[in-house]
Amino acid sequence: MLDVEKIRKDFKILGRTIWDNKSLVYLDNAATTQKPSSVINTLINYYENYNANIHRGVHKLAEEATTAYEEVRQKVKNFIGASSNEEVVFTRNTTESINLLAYSLGESFLKSGDEILLSEMEHHSNIVPWYMLRDRKGSKSIKIKYIPINKNYELDYSSLKKLINRKTKIISITHKSNVLGTVNDIKKISRIIKSSSHSPLLVVDAAQSAPHMKLSFKDLKCDFLAFSSHKMCGPTGVGVLVGKKDLFEKMSPFLGGGEMIRKVTFEGFTPNDVPWKFEAGTPNIADVIAFGSALDYLEKIGLENIYEHELKLTEYTLNKLKKFNFLKIYGPKEPDKRVGIITFSNPVVHPHDIATILDQYGVAIRAGHHCAQPLMKKLSVGATARASFYFYNTFEEIDIFIDALTKAFDYFAVGACKELKKDEREKDGNANIDGKNAKQFTTTIR
Ligand code: ALA
Repeated sequence: MLDVEKIRKDFKILGRTIWDNKSLVYLDNAATTQKPSSVINTLINYYENYNANIHRGVHKLAEEATTAYEEVRQKVKNFIGASSNEEVVFTRNTTESINLLAYSLGESFLKSGDEILLSEMEHHSNIVPWYMLRDRKGSKSIKIKYIPINKNYELDYSSLKKLINRKTKIISITHKSNVLGTVNDIKKISRIIKSSSHSPLLVVDAAQSAPHMKLSFKDLKCDFLAFSSHKMCGPTGVGVLVGKKDLFEKMSPFLGGGEMIRKVTFEGFTPNDVPWKFEAGTPNIADVIAFGSALDYLEKIGLENIYEHELKLTEYTLNKLKKFNFLKIYGPKEPDKRVGIITFSNPVVHPHDIATILDQYGVAIRAGHHCAQPLMKKLSVGATARASFYFYNTFEEIDIFIDALTKAFDYFAVGACKELKKDEREKDGNANIDGKNAKQFTTTIR
């Protein structure tokens, strides 16, 4: 059991008020998480006491900064169950980690005719870099295919089996959807790959899972795994790419410059060893060091405890949402298949309007397409509202959220629109709902 009240004291921001003295209810954790004071203090301590560039100077400050930076690599290695520090590359965020892969794998391993498999529930950051690779190689040379999702918003594993063939070189897939909350079974995917007579590389976008559940790179049996510091109590501007050392060694560097070289002559260059081969230029030293404090903090709370608490919050919220029988809720029915994220829409009220009203009550949620436009198309909806939790959220906050939602729907006279019948609720999209009595949408989709 988490002592959430005690934990909340570590996050000054959670005690602030919004508008006319409304307590902040922060339910936008899939976008970014709040930072405990230990993380903020680590940043201040670095800048006040040992700010220096790393891997260059021989002076005391440079040595202290280098040691602190490299110690975080070790912490990440332990946190994510990698085999060695060489498997851990620091980037700016998950997006940059995937761009690195799309560029370097594309340069080193892909040829005309090859195929890349993605799923229908990917964030743009796991779609666009692959399209850019395809477009660089000549639009007909690389094919990108999508593994479909089923009616329960889960990956259709049987289609995956059928889609893998000798041309499939990369399968890049989210571990947990930022819209549906669906947790994909990565071990099952790697078993499916092994049982085929082909051996595509498996890339996992763990931006939404690494902060919320205990992961082991070794156990997942994928080739690469990416996540971001800011979604797990760390600062923005730090991402991680974990990858198998032998693959990193065979891959071309991504960005060129200082740090990533062993030698430069008037004729050319020799890249540095991994992982530094992929860390060109002065890295985000302060934020990487503070990310180390975030990992310490999460380890102290325990990833298992975090998962359990979020599961209870998810069950509680789904139960409370049942009273809104005009809401369409996306994501698997079973709470343990979609921990921590609840996405919903109503045909009458635009999600931005819901979010704006909720904000008046101090409740922060996200509304829009969630950087997942292809998934929105699949769901036949332009935008949705999304509440997402972290370990510092309370059941009382969920009650405030539900209360604010009730007021929002009253304001927009949603009760005047037809109730969604059970079969309509289970269908994708909102096309057959009559919203005649509702007020006009006041915002546009972003
Ligand atoms: N990927 C983040 C989200 O889903 C920004 O909100």
